[in-house]
Amino acid sequence: MDLTADRVSDADVDLFQPLLECCEDFFQRCFGRPAREDEARRMPLERPPGLGPERRHLVALRDSGRRLVGVLEGVSDFPAPGEWYLGLMLLAPEVRGKGRGEAVLRGYEDWLRREGARLLRLGVSEPNPDAHRFWTRVGFHDEPLREARVRHRRPEELLVPGGRPVPTRSGAPGA
Ligand SMILES: CC(C)(COP(=O)(O)OP(=O)(O)OC[C@H]1O[C@@H](n2cnc3c(N)ncnc32)[C@H](O)[C@@H]1OP(=O)(O)O)[C@@H](O)C(=O)NCCC(=O)NCCS
Repeated sequence: MDLTADRVSDADVDLFQPLLECCEDFFQRCFGRPAREDEARRMPLERPPGLGPERRHLVALRDSGRRLVGVLEGVSDFPAPGEWYLGLMLLAPEVRGKGRGEAVLRGYEDWLRREGARLLRLGVSEPNPDAHRFWTRVGFHDEPLREARVRHRRPEELLVPGGRPVPTRSGAPGA
């Protein structure tokens, strides 16, 4: 993959603001508005309360010229030990649709496994069927939970050499 991933501290979260603003399509689709002026600064505030720094993961994805082209934001051991939650995965429009999303996810999952994760969950907005298709293709399936469409994947499913988990769709309503 031609993208690199670097951890970013919450103190530097503002560096994501231009990226979020250039992803207006995503914000319009999911929230009916563009990114807010303080969208990046709000990211840490939208996590579950009371998480120590070791359980918060903010990752900058950069291209070969070190230009910021993506963000991953997740938390570990939430809601239970070994269960991770991916709050946001977002790539700049010009780098989407070329297999990088899947490559980033595979790298993230490798790291998760080394950290002892056994389950990765994420939420998909109902008006984002392209993303739902992406997550299904890479092996996630729907899990009805509190009226949200939550997708989950057990990392051990990925460990079968050459194997591929069979996605299932429960048709749960989206968040
Ligand atoms: C979802 C996303 C991370 C996937 O990364 P990617 O590099 O585009 O994905 P890949 O090239 O590996 O796979 C392509 C698939 O991604 C999905 N995708 C492509 N463009 C997309 C977009 N603008 N929004 C959502 N999903 C998209 C489609 O399912 C596409 O499959 P298709 O060719 O059959 O339509 C990336 O498209 C993105 O950042 N989209 C906008 C933000 C978003 O929706 N994030 C997910 C929130 S749950």
